[in-house]
Amino acid sequence: SFLSAQESMHGMMMPMMRAEEIKAPVLPHGAALQEVAKLANQSQQPNLFKADVTAAPAETEFVTGKKTTVWAYNGRVPGPLIEVQEGDTVEIRLINKLPQPTTIHWHGLPIPPEQDGNPMDPVLPGKELIYRFTLPEGSAGTYWYHPHPHEYTAEQVFRGLAAPFIVRAKNDPLKDIPERNLMISDLKLTPDGAIAGNDMNDWMNGREGQFVLVNGQYHPVVEVKGTERWRIWNATSARYLNLSLGGRKFTLVGTDGGLLEKPVRDLQTLLLSPAERIEIIVDAAGQEGKVSLFAEPYNRGKMGHVAAEKRIDIAAVNLLAGPSIAIPEVLRKIDDLGEAKAMKKMVFSEAMSMANGRHMMLFLINGKSFDMHRIDFISRLHETELWEIINNADMDHPFHVHGTQFQVVETERNGVRTPAPYRAWKDTVNVRRGETVRIKIRQDFPGLRMLHCHILEHEMLGMMAIQQVK
Ligand code: C2O
Ligand code: CU
Ligand code: CU
Repeated sequence: SFLSAQESMHGMMMPMMRAEEIKAPVLPHGAALQEVAKLANQSQQPNLFKADVTAAPAETEFVTGKKTTVWAYNGRVPGPLIEVQEGDTVEIRLINKLPQPTTIHWHGLPIPPEQDGNPMDPVLPGKELIYRFTLPEGSAGTYWYHPHPHEYTAEQVFRGLAAPFIVRAKNDPLKDIPERNLMISDLKLTPDGAIAGNDMNDWMNGREGQFVLVNGQYHPVVEVKGTERWRIWNATSARYLNLSLGGRKFTLVGTDGGLLEKPVRDLQTLLLSPAERIEIIVDAAGQEGKVSLFAEPYNRGKMGHVAAEKRIDIAAVNLLAGPSIAIPEVLRKIDDLGEAKAMKKMVFSEAMSMANGRHMMLFLINGKSFDMHRIDFISRLHETELWEIINNADMDHPFHVHGTQFQVVETERNGVRTPAPYRAWKDTVNVRRGETVRIKIRQDFPGLRMLHCHILEHEMLGMMAIQQVK
């Protein structure tokens, strides 16, 4: 039988070294950024994408001369990029060669719940499962896939299981702009180069590794000639990426579920919380030079003794003169989700409890810890609802719901309501401590959907609930 999460967690609760006290190994850096390898389509049929994805232990070399055992999709960290078009049918056979149950969750995709890799549908070690779904019109956007088995999600992701998924539009207004994908993850190694386990601090605040990686590389170099469109994934367990190009300007054109209605120009920083994605346009024209992609300090609130936030240099960026391509003023039309027919309230909180004589943090939604056999919310199919997500906790929590894209209506802080600055499709939104976020949401498939904090340690420690759509 598997080591239960509770057991392994209690192991973690023993006094251990703090992350910052572990002597970090040295990683090679400074190589040109590599693209994430694409998953090859095995089908000859038009509009069908078919492939095998094996989840298995694999060896890689992060530290020169040292082997690191990771858990990987088809032997790669990050896993292979799946790139399809709106309207395509996707058929992926998952082969589980891990020592634990796993699933593939298609983060953000509008697909039926029974194909979405819910914790209720584990694929046991040595077993296989075929996921099959069709991507509707209008679903073009930047998604990802990762495991979602009960109690093992955090571990399987930090061992390396996560990969990008892009749905292309039939008519893309930005198709003339060269693209680049940056999947950001982080890596925590022991001094001898093995993937480190979680310590007490990781369980409370979410795991942050010593190394921030882009496409699996440590501190790569990105060369931008003229104009580029970047898709950026925050695929870390818990790291808030307050992205900047060191004062250079960029334009936001898309969020989790695809393009905005209009470009948002002249940005210098943009906060990408765990699991969120953005599309930005970086134009070197008029701002040539050597800069960096930074994560600027962002205080998300942490418990216990933690080091002050510092700026992280994620990648070197060389902005070079080249063809400058104008961004159209109109990208697409996003219809409002319409009048809400029902309302739901979700309160995020933290609590301390005693278990087996040890103090343990609990992360709760409406005062309850996740129970796989309990339905927490019932919604009607195709009906727009207003959800009020209230963060009463001492730290920020990125809220995520499966199977659909929602629209943020407003945020409220100290009684002051701020309407969303633009309409956008999102499946993950940061809820700052002490803040309330109101969203409009609609589910278009019947069945069970997960909603949770995407700090994967918090999800594991209870901050998850089930929505039944009928
Ligand atoms: Cu990306 Cu339920 O998660
Ligand atoms: Cu998801
Ligand atoms: Cu959280």
